[in-house]
This record gives sequence, structure tokens and C-alpha cells, in this order.
Amino acid sequence: MTLSKKPLKGMRELTPAEKRVEDYIVGKLREAGAVYGFEEYETPVLEPLELFLAKSGNELAVKQSYNFPDKGGRKLIMRPELTPSLARMVAAAGELIYPVKWMSFPVCYRYERPQRGRVREFMQFNLDILGVSGLDAELEVFLVLRRIMNSLGASPGQYIIRYSSRRLASEILSSCGMTEEEMAQAYAVIDKKDKLKPDEWEELVRETVKNERNADTVMKFASCSDPDSSWLRETAGGSEAYDELVKFSGMLKYAGITEAQFDAGVVRGLDYYTGIVFEVSDTGSKNRRAICGGGRYDNLVGMFGGQKVTGVGFGLGLLTLELFLKTYDLIPGGISGKHPVDIFLAVYSDEERTFAVNLAEKLRNAGVSVEIDITGKNLSKQFKIADRKLIGYVAVIGPVEAASGRITLKNMISGTETECEVSEVPGILIEGNLCEEAN
Ligand code: HAM
Repeated sequence: MTLSKKPLKGMRELTPAEKRVEDYIVGKLREAGAVYGFEEYETPVLEPLELFLAKSGNELAVKQSYNFPDKGGRKLIMRPELTPSLARMVAAAGELIYPVKWMSFPVCYRYERPQRGRVREFMQFNLDILGVSGLDAELEVFLVLRRIMNSLGASPGQYIIRYSSRRLASEILSSCGMTEEEMAQAYAVIDKKDKLKPDEWEELVRETVKNERNADTVMKFASCSDPDSSWLRETAGGSEAYDELVKFSGMLKYAGITEAQFDAGVVRGLDYYTGIVFEVSDTGSKNRRAICGGGRYDNLVGMFGGQKVTGVGFGLGLLTLELFLKTYDLIPGGISGKHPVDIFLAVYSDEERTFAVNLAEKLRNAGVSVEIDITGKNLSKQFKIADRKLIGYVAVIGPVEAASGRITLKNMISGTETECEVSEVPGILIEGNLCEEAN
């Protein structure tokens, strides 16, 4: 039997060139979080199933998850998201200095049908603020999101941050007499609004929400795109949730976050949201899946017993973000192709090998990354290797170099050669990189 060369369907396998692109994006995300004071944390990949059953809801924890018993019979789950683990960590921690501002890069697992923007193993960027009940937390999260998109070169017209209020939705639907269970079903259909054609969606709403008046309310609410619309004002005006939504819209306007737009069709699929909810998506038609989703979850930490701690945050998919960046040609050229090593040392013959190995160590000690030939192939083949790996500089170590201690650095792009002392190499590389950036 021959073994398959393919990984399991939907699993994350990245070549070094693909990993360099991911690392570039991770770097930008980490930088954006850090300038707002967010600290990194980690949680386990493997978790008790009951944690996710209680927090994420049945759809994600059962239907869309990898779950199985371990050898001791314990029911486990490969985390499909991070928020329940974060809530547990915060609930278990004794002394935390609030507000807690944490970020993390979990690899998550969902048993979904792989398609564009959807896989079974994916990396998320999570950023959450815990312990702040006012809207300043939401505003800060939106500011981080805008900074992320700006730092990656996205312009406002290319993406949109759609937001709504789960609290307002719940207030309006419960005032029609809908039960918790009916409301959860209504959220699930509202969540499908963008994925279906208008008439298909209407049919689904009528099928799911049996009472005709309630179905109309669900459709009218989900179609609101202005907090000041007459239907919304007449239906919910004066309620706390409505006032909160109007206040938040004003805060966004004042902060100049023009990419944010109210859209009551955003309710989010997860059960734990309690307030403002939001999604970031491409305004174009190529990437239908959300780049990021999040919201306020004020009851999650308290469900562990003990102290109630409010929370707001988001999960951003690295894959969906990368697809967005590729669509708008926003991944800087050369990132995937350029080999990260600074110099390739080609060795003329075995006579110079000891000298070359010591020289390579000296350069590495000075902060220069060096790949030295270890194949013993002839010089022309060594040059070919360096060329194909797109390494920026090559230096040949032959009898002359071994005797003089001086080397000649060849810039593989411009072809220019610079003879120098080993101690001068870092300076030449820095200068070379600066010239490259300026071009
Ligand atoms: P979520 O909407 O389920 O929210 O996921 C957040 C993001 O993760 C999505 O917008 C998408 O970019 C990415 N994502 C989700 N599933 C997949 C998949 N199968 N393949 C590729 N990317 C995917 C949450 O996970 C919440 N825990 C977010 C949160 C954090 N809320 C508050 N804090």
C-alpha cells in the first residue's frame, strides 16, 4: 500500500514560503495589539467537551467539532474557538489587574466542509478586554481593528466593520413574546441572511419562526441599517439597549471610524454574546466569509461561579485575512520568495572548509545569518543553490580568502561585488537592505 502524500482534508500545512506570509501577518497583528497594551497568553488545544457544550452552544461544540473520548474515557474536544478557555482562565485566576487586555494566536479545529475561507484547522488572532462594562472597551477593540487593517495597507472602502446589538435584538424579540429557544432559532436564521438569496432567506424565516407577526418582526429588524430608522425608533426607542446602540454609533462617528456601519443582520452564531456584536468583511464579492467576528459577552466568566467579569473581544481568522490581502494585492512582493538567510558561503574546496566554518560562526556571532555549503558540490552548483533559494549575498571562500581573511560579497540581485573585512559585513548588509527598501 502506498501512503497518501496529502494531509487530512482541511488541515493546515504551510511551506516555508507560505509560513513567511503568515508570519508577516502575525507580526502586524501582534504589533497592533501591543501598541494598545495587550499581553499574550496561551490555552490548551485539548479541552473537556463539557466546557464548550456549556459555552459555545451545540452547533459548534457537537456538530462542528472534533470530539472523542480519551483512553481514560474522558470526553474531549479539539478547541473550535478560544473564548470559553479564556473565560475559565480568568475565572480561575485569583489576582488579576483589571482591565485584563489579552491576546493570543490559537490554532482551532472545526469539522466543516472545506471551501474558500473555511478549513478544518486554522489559526485565529484573539484579542479581548475583560472587566470593563462601558462602551469604551468596544471602541478600543474597533480602534485596534482599524489599526490592523491600516497597517496591512487596506483602505477603508475595501472592508467594512458591521455592528449591531444582541441586547437590542433580544429586547425586541422577547417583547413579541418569543421564548429563549425561539430567539436562539431566530438568531441562527438572521445569521444566514447574507448567505442566502432574499427570497430563500424569507422562506427560511417563515419556516423557522412560526408566528407570522414574529417572523415579520425578525425580518424588519434584520433589515435595519440605520439606528435612527423610524421602525427601530418606534419599536425600541427609549429602551436601554437602543440608547446604548445610538450612543455607540455616536462614539464611532466621533472617533472617525468611518469603516463601521450599523447592520442589524449581524447577530453572530455563538450563544454567549450579550451586547454589541460585530463582523469585519470584504466589501467585494470574492471573499464571502467574515475576516473577523466578535462582541460583548458579560456572563461567560460568571458562569464558572464566583465573580462576574464582563468581556468584549474578537476572533480574526488568519486565512480569511490572507485571502482578503491577496485579493487586493496587499502582501508585499518578495515576502514569500525571499530566503530569510543573509549570506551563502560557497566553499571552494575541502582545504578551506575549516576556515569557512569558523568564519560562518564569527558572522553569526555578529548577528548575520549564514548558510554555508555542506554538500561539497562544485562552485557553480553551489551558486545555483544560492540563486534558486533567492539568497541575497554570496561569498566564495577559497585559498585567497583563507590566506588574507578578507571576503568578497556578491549582491545576487545587482551583481555588484564588495571586498571587505569580516567585521564590515553587517554594515554592508544593512546598507544593502536599505537600498533595496528605497527601490
Ligand atoms: P467566530 O466568528 O466563530 O468567533 O470565528 C472568528 C473568525 O475565525 C471568523 O470570522 C473567521 O475569520 C475565522 N474562522 C472561523 N471558522 C473558521 C474556519 N473553519 N476556517 C477558517 N477560519 C475560520 C469566535 O471564534 C469567537 N470566539 C470570537 C470572539 C473572541 N468573540 C469574543 N472574543
